[in-house]
Amino acid sequence: MNTLNNSVTWEKWPKQPLFLVLIFEVRCKIIKVVFIGDIVGSVGRKALKTIMPRLKQTHANAIFIANGENAAAGRGITSAIAKEMYEMGIHGITMGNHTWDQKDIFDFIDQDEKMVRPANFPPGTPGRGHTVIKVKDQELLLINLQGRTFLPPIDCPFRKVEEILETAKKKYKFIFVDFHAEATSEKIAMGWHLDGKVSAVVGTHTHVQTHDERILPQGTAYVTDVGMVGPRDGVLGMERVSVLQKFKTQLPVRFTTDEGKWHFHAVVMDLNDQTGLAKGIKLIRYDEDHVFMD
Ligand SMILES: [Fe+2]
Ligand SMILES: [Fe+2]
Repeated sequence: MNTLNNSVTWEKWPKQPLFLVLIFEVRCKIIKVVFIGDIVGSVGRKALKTIMPRLKQTHANAIFIANGENAAAGRGITSAIAKEMYEMGIHGITMGNHTWDQKDIFDFIDQDEKMVRPANFPPGTPGRGHTVIKVKDQELLLINLQGRTFLPPIDCPFRKVEEILETAKKKYKFIFVDFHAEATSEKIAMGWHLDGKVSAVVGTHTHVQTHDERILPQGTAYVTDVGMVGPRDGVLGMERVSVLQKFKTQLPVRFTTDEGKWHFHAVVMDLNDQTGLAKGIKLIRYDEDHVFMD
C-alpha cells in the first residue's frame, strides 16, 4: 500500500540525535502535486469551486494541475474559464482531444504559458506541449501527451516524450506527465516507458477513476485514469437520456452535459525533492452527497 507520510522512514531512526533527525527531515522535504481529472461543464466547475478551498487547506503549498479539455459545456475551454480556474488556485491546465472545440482557444493558447495541449500534435500546432509551472520556489515540468489507440492518428507519444526528456531531464527534477488516452494498455505501457524518468504519469480522458494507483519500481507514480469532475449521474458527464437514445437507435443525437449532482476525482502525489521521484500516491474522491468522503 502506498503511503503519503514518511512514518516508516522515521521509524528507522528512533535513536538518532535530534540534529541528525532534523537534517534528515530537511533532506527529505516532500513536494506535493494534486492533479484533478477532466473538469466537465458548469457542474464540474461548480464542483471545483466547492472543493478547492478544502484541498488547498489539506494540501497547503501543493502544486495544483487540472485537465480542462471539457470545461466549456463538455467541449474545450475558453479564456474566461481558464482564468476562472487559475483564480481558484489551479497552477497549470492540461488538455486533450477536445483542445480545439472552442474557437476562442486560438486567441489565447499561444499566450497562456500555464496551459499545455498534447505535445505529439503535429509540428506547427498552436500552443505548447510542455511548460514549466512555477509555484513559489518550486519548478515542475508539465507534459501533456495523447494516445493513438481509438483516437486520431497523431505523432508517436512514446518517441515524443523521449525527445522532450532528452533536453529537459537535466534541467528539471519534477516532471509530471498527463497521458490523455483511451486504451488502458497504452497508458500502462507509457507508465513503464517512463518509470524512473519522470515523477508521475497519470492518465486522463476516460472520465472513470481507476484504482490501480501505485509507485512503479523505479519511483514513478502511476494511475491509469484520474477520473473526472462533473455530473455524476450522466454518461461520462453527458445527459444520459440522449446517450441511451444514441446507443439504442444509432441515429444522430445531440449530446449536452448533464446538469445534476457532481462527483470529484483527483490524485495527490508526494515527491522527494532530492530525487524528484514519488514517495506516495493517493486517490481523492468526493461526491456531492458525501463531500467529506476521502
Ligand atoms: Fe475528457
Ligand atoms: Fe478526452
